[in-house]
Amino acid sequence: MENGPACRAMVMFGGKGGVGKTTCSAAVALQLASSGQRTLIITSDATPSLSDIFEEEIGDTIRSLGDRLDAVEISDAAILRRWKEKFGPDFYEILSCLVDMEGLDGESRHQLLDYIGSAPSLREETMLDLIVDLAGACAYDRIVWDTAPAGETLNLLNMPAYIKRHLSAGSRVFEGLDRIGRKITGRRSISGIMEQWIGASERISAYLHENSAFVLVANPEALVVRQARRVVETLREYRITLHGMIINRVIRNPDSPSLSNLMKIQERYLTDLMGLAEGLPVAILPFSLKEIRGKKALKQAGKRLLAELGL
Ligand SMILES: Nc1ncnc2c1ncn2[C@@H]1O[C@H](COP(=O)(O)OP(=O)(O)OP(=O)(O)O)[C@@H](O)[C@H]1O
Ligand SMILES: [Mg+2]
Repeated sequence: MENGPACRAMVMFGGKGGVGKTTCSAAVALQLASSGQRTLIITSDATPSLSDIFEEEIGDTIRSLGDRLDAVEISDAAILRRWKEKFGPDFYEILSCLVDMEGLDGESRHQLLDYIGSAPSLREETMLDLIVDLAGACAYDRIVWDTAPAGETLNLLNMPAYIKRHLSAGSRVFEGLDRIGRKITGRRSISGIMEQWIGASERISAYLHENSAFVLVANPEALVVRQARRVVETLREYRITLHGMIINRVIRNPDSPSLSNLMKIQERYLTDLMGLAEGLPVAILPFSLKEIRGKKALKQAGKRLLAELGL
């Protein structure tokens, strides 16, 4: 199915820790699936709560949660597996040009590759590569990505551009070494391998810019508003489309003086958040006295979010 610019294939839900990203992602994913779209919900939070919210065990391989809805929790172990499979052989080849890899015993070779593969930027790049592959596999109409708290996600979104800059510099450094090395070993050139990695970063970057949109989840509270402002600025800087905003835990119809008080405090921050949205779709999710867990409660929230966000 075709998605216009206002309705991208991948929707990322992001925002400060604890604002309701996982709840809102789960609700929207369930409702997208109910409306007939094949949907995959991914969580990249290191301590995922998707299983708790759906009240079903999920794990790091894709599993079905019922009609048209699949889910996966991306673990560090899955990222490392992926890295070893996809990029491990390239690294092995490069390292072989620099050190005597064959002289190491098998265990040491594995340890070395594990160590390199879990380096922070490679972990993030591999996670994006995995997500973009899942999204591009055409098995799904929509991908809902429940991201880790804001700071970590913003670093992640800038990673392909960062890696590309870094590799482009490296590729030039290695050209000289390649000229000598190729004559002796006949191996693939290091700069050639790096060019391939640059291509992989460009593919991820293109997907994020062309097929993805961000939904900012926020609560009407001072600290959340402050961080929401930074997120909007950073998304603009990274040229990631902001689709809209969910203002979660909004107090409506208070039945006690303390809730009335809280509602008054929220009003000011609601105005700030509406201003920040600058006319983009804004969905309001009221503060719920009951936990939003399990399919029934999620569907109710999802219907509202989908309609108000126009996803
Ligand atoms: N509208 C709401 N009313 C009341 N409680 C809510 C609402 N939305 C979410 N919650 C509760 O707030 C808590 C945090 O929600 P959730 O796990 O979705 O946030 P998160 O942003 O994903 O958190 P984290 O940053 O830790 O991943 C949960 O206990 C959830 O049930
Ligand atoms: Mg979460």
